[in-house]
Amino acid sequence: MPNIVGFLCNWCSYTGADLAGSNKLEVSPSISVTRVMCSSRINPSLVLNALLWGADGVLVAGCHPGDCHYKEGNYYTRRRFAQLKKVLESLNIDPERVELAWVSAAEGRRYAEVVNTFTEKIRQLGPNPLQKTQF
Ligand code: FES
Repeated sequence: MPNIVGFLCNWCSYTGADLAGSNKLEVSPSISVTRVMCSSRINPSLVLNALLWGADGVLVAGCHPGDCHYKEGNYYTRRRFAQLKKVLESLNIDPERVELAWVSAAEGRRYAEVVNTFTEKIRQLGPNPLQKTQF
């Protein structure tokens, strides 16, 4: 079972995850969730550190573009994420190990799909090779 770190925004994605649970949808237990107020609160260094500390994958989920409760937060997230993928490539870390998704509070089913699909993708990539590195 992969070890995935999830950062979910409080207003949309975390509520969507809650809805998935309330509706008893099947969500992979591979994900350990941290709730943040907005996806824009996720400094890319947190994602990088999660990978360096051995997470197999990192999922960041927030409100759909235009729906961020802090107006432009998820636009910043989207831009930072594009940069983060380039940084990961330059560090020889597979950028496919990180995922950005938009999940609203009403999308419990989408949340389940995002987590299950990402889990399967990470399973196919295999364990994070950095797990063998001791810091
Ligand atoms: S409040 Fe959800 S992404 Fe900003």
